[in-house]
Amino acid sequence: MSTAPDRARMSENETAFAILKEFLQTLKIMSYAIFLSIWRFLISPPRKSVEGEIVLVTGAGSGIGQRISMEFAKLGAILVLWDIDEEKNKKTMELIRGHSEGVKCYPYRCDVGNREEVYQTAKRVKGDVGDVGILVNNAGVVSGKKLIHTPDHLIQHTINVNLMAHFWTVKCFLPTMLRKNHGHIVNISSSTGLVGLNKLTDYSTSKFGVVGFTEVLTYEIFFSGNSGVHTTLVCPSFVKTGLFPGCKMRFPWLIPPLEIQPTVERIMQGILTNQHVVCIPRLIYFFVFLKSILPVEAFHEVIRFSGAATFMDNFKGGRSREIQNEANGSSSTNGTAETNCNHGNNSLLEPIQKQSSLNENSDDIPEIDTHNSSCVNGHFDLSSVSDEAGETKLLKRSRHDDNLSGAQE
Ligand SMILES: NC(=O)c1ccc[n+]([C@@H]2O[C@H](COP(=O)([O-])OP(=O)(O)OC[C@H]3O[C@@H](n4cnc5c(N)ncnc54)[C@H](O)[C@@H]3O)[C@@H](O)[C@H]2O)c1
Repeated sequence: MSTAPDRARMSENETAFAILKEFLQTLKIMSYAIFLSIWRFLISPPRKSVEGEIVLVTGAGSGIGQRISMEFAKLGAILVLWDIDEEKNKKTMELIRGHSEGVKCYPYRCDVGNREEVYQTAKRVKGDVGDVGILVNNAGVVSGKKLIHTPDHLIQHTINVNLMAHFWTVKCFLPTMLRKNHGHIVNISSSTGLVGLNKLTDYSTSKFGVVGFTEVLTYEIFFSGNSGVHTTLVCPSFVKTGLFPGCKMRFPWLIPPLEIQPTVERIMQGILTNQHVVCIPRLIYFFVFLKSILPVEAFHEVIRFSGAATFMDNFKGGRSREIQNEANGSSSTNGTAETNCNHGNNSLLEPIQKQSSLNENSDDIPEIDTHNSSCVNGHFDLSSVSDEAGETKLLKRSRHDDNLSGAQE
C-alpha cells in the first residue's frame, strides 16, 4: 500500500509529465505557425471574398480611408463611410459610385473622437444597413509640435480621434462579430507607433496605443476561441496623403515616401489574407529589431543619423500654424480666436487658450484647460469659453478649409 509521501511524489511526477507534454505540444504548434508564416511569405495565400460584406471605414473622406473604401467597393462590398467632413465623405461616395456601378454606399457624418456620437451613429448604421462585418479604424489627426508647445485640447483631441475612437467603435461592432464568429477589425496605426518620432508626442503615443490595443484585442479574440474573427494592425511609414505636408526624409532612397495606391493595395492584401500585422515598408521591422537590441543611447544615434529626429521640422500642417499663432500671441486680438486646426486635411476652427501652451523657457505650471471640445449632434459646442481673466472668447469653426488638398496625391 502506498503511503501519503509516495502519493504526493507520484502526483508531482504526473504534474511534471503533464507540463512537459504541454510544453512539447506548444513547441509543435509554434513550429507549425513559423512554417506557415514562412510559407505565406513565399506563396501568397488566397484572398477571402468580401462580396456583400458590410465594411465600415472611418476617415473615409480622403487619403488612405478613401482608397480603402474604393478597393472594397470594387470587390462588391457594401460601404459605410464615416468622416467628420460631410463634403469629403460625399465626394468619396461619388467616386465609389463612378468607379463601381451599383455598389451600395452609405455616408455618415461622425466625429469618431466623440463617444456618444460613435454610439449613436453605430445604432443608425445597424438599423439602416445591417451588421458590420469589417471595421476599418482609419481616421487620424496630427498636431505636429513638441509636447510643451501643444495646447492641451489638441493633445486630448489627438488621443480621442487616433486612439479612444478604436475603443468606442470596436465596442459597438465586435459583439455581433463574436456572436456570428465572423468579422474583421483593421486598425491603422503607423510606423511611429513602433518607433517614436520627434514632435509627435501625442500622435506617436496614440499610435503606440493602437498597437497595444490591437495586440490585446487579438489575444482576447483568440483565447475566446473565435477563430472566425480576425484583426489586422497596419503600420505604414510616411504616405503622400497630405497628413504630413512639408515633412521630408533624410534618406528618401532608404525609406521613400509611399504612394497612396500601392500602399493601399498592400493593406488590402493584408486584410484579404487575414494577416495580423502589415508594416510598410518591411524595413520598419528592422528598426523595431534595432530598438529592441541596442542600448538606448546607441538607438538615439540611429534616430539622429537616419533623420527621423528632424522629419517633422518642416511640417506645415494647419495645426502647426495655429500653435505658432498662439505662441506669438496673435490668436485673439479682438476677443475672437480664429484659428486653423488641421484634422488631417480637414480644418476646424478651434479655440486657442493661452494657458494650455507653454513657453519652452518658462517654468510655468499650465492652468487647467477649460476648453470644452464636446460635440453634440455632430457639432462642436461653440458656447463661450472662459479664460483666466474671466473674458470670453468666441469660438469659430469651419469644416471646409481645403487648404491642404493640393498636397493630396
Ligand atoms: N499619411 C501618412 O503618412 C500616414 C502614415 C502612417 C499612418 N497614417 C495613418 O493613416 C490614417 C489615414 O491617414 P491619411 O494620411 O489618409 O490622412 P487624411 O488626412 O488624408 O485622412 C484622414 C481622414 O480622417 C478624417 N477625420 C479626421 N478627424 C476625424 C474625426 N474626428 N472623425 C472622423 N473622421 C475624422 C478626415 O476628415 C480625413 O478625411 C490615419 O490614422 C493616419 O494616422 C498616415
